[in-house]
Amino acid sequence: MQKFHRDLPETPVFVYGQCVDSATFPGPTIVARHDVPLSVTWENHLPDRHILPWDPTVPTAIPKNGGGVPTVVHLHGSAHQPQSDGSPFAWFTAGFSDTGPAWTQATYRYPNVQPPGNLWYHDHALGLTRANLLAGLLGAYVIEKPEVDAPMDLPCDDDDLHLVIADRSFNVDGSLYMNSTGVAPSVHPEWQPEYFGEAVTVNGKAWPFLAVHRRRYRLRILNASNARYFNVSLSNGMPFHVVGSDASYLAAPVTVTSLLISPAEMFDVVVDFSASPTAEVEMLNSAPYPFPAGTAPGPLNGKVMKFVVTPNGPRDPPDNSTVPDHEVPYANVASPGPTSETRYIVMYEYLTPTGQSTHLYINGLRLEDPVTETPRSGTTELWHVINLTGDNHPLHIHLGMFQAVKMQQLLDLQAFTDCMTQLNDAVKCGLDQHAVGPVVPVPDHEKTWKNVVKVPPGFVTTVVVAFKLVDTNQIYPFDVTAEPGYVYHCHILDHEDNAMIRPLKLLP
Ligand code: C2O
Ligand code: CU
Repeated sequence: MQKFHRDLPETPVFVYGQCVDSATFPGPTIVARHDVPLSVTWENHLPDRHILPWDPTVPTAIPKNGGGVPTVVHLHGSAHQPQSDGSPFAWFTAGFSDTGPAWTQATYRYPNVQPPGNLWYHDHALGLTRANLLAGLLGAYVIEKPEVDAPMDLPCDDDDLHLVIADRSFNVDGSLYMNSTGVAPSVHPEWQPEYFGEAVTVNGKAWPFLAVHRRRYRLRILNASNARYFNVSLSNGMPFHVVGSDASYLAAPVTVTSLLISPAEMFDVVVDFSASPTAEVEMLNSAPYPFPAGTAPGPLNGKVMKFVVTPNGPRDPPDNSTVPDHEVPYANVASPGPTSETRYIVMYEYLTPTGQSTHLYINGLRLEDPVTETPRSGTTELWHVINLTGDNHPLHIHLGMFQAVKMQQLLDLQAFTDCMTQLNDAVKCGLDQHAVGPVVPVPDHEKTWKNVVKVPPGFVTTVVVAFKLVDTNQIYPFDVTAEPGYVYHCHILDHEDNAMIRPLKLLP
């Protein structure tokens, strides 16, 4: 049970914890040390029945022996072996009484060999990811590397906080509300293309306030929502100094007054409350839902949280933190050197004759279809991600780290889409003749090695994907080629479950 708001009864949740009684939403933050491997035995103590509706007509983990809620854990943004990746097919029920076809082991090993940064862990069970995360199965994970972190003198200890943002709707009895009527009931009786909650929760509280002193704070902002994008700003106009995104630092801080954060995306920012012109500061949200062409947020979901700035007391320690001049100079991605493979990744939305969404596929293929993306370990690839739908999709690739280098609008989109639905071949359909529209610049604060990239509708977004360690240029010091391989997918969870997800198999 979790108390989300003073005026709301307690809410049943599914959560992570070190023991059953101390589990919370979000789960405990795991702080790992670079180069120190960590082993976690993930156990399932969930009850026989789910607390939320789920739709058995999307490809779903369904235990053979009836009871139990399948789950499996993915450490998002981490480089590790496939057997520890949390494949959607590696699910297990309570007591491991039933396991999915790709299940191999109870203990996962996280080598923590990648650069320092912000990760998170969450459920990844086949077809249940949207219900399991909505129920609360997520938490933050940090890789620290003192040689890199400490010289920057960023705010630390009490001045270093996670803000895990997630929209939720509640019933009057306090339970989580999830629509259980399918938007296309004849096809999917309970699947909705996007979950949007009316309330905005931060660290498990609806519209909380945080008392801050007049000093700098480091805020590690994670959008852990199923489908909602947030475009956050501060009500008194104060800026965010962005120092990192996803699991990487930037080359140097970038100062912005608003931040567009897709589901699963993270921004690591410094806010200097010593410069606050007001005693209270609200964090506001202006992102339409669905993004970008949907409804503008209203008075409820247009607000995220409030900071109450309290005067410094005589015994407050001085603030010796900084916004550093320089951070981590990763290899210049705009000229990544030779890429070994060019791929075309096409996002489609399939509709009923009356225009309702029935499923979303990548390259017209399902997760169960044979693997087509087989990069060689140690190489860098160029992926042209072509979005033929009306939504922005947050692309997430397991194992690899990537970044957008070009976003260009497709002209004569309908003709291109018609050809693609027929031939499913971007080259034959004349991508080069269509990808001639305006180029939208990649924001400076997203120019680093990311694990989520926002893919705008009607655009081709070119990303450089590195299947190696991006700080040292080395190959992974463990076998990445084993079964069950990895996946890449849209991180709108309702899309991922139905079925904007494909396998990814590394070759030696
Ligand atoms: Cu954050 Cu495949 O997931
Ligand atoms: Cu999507």
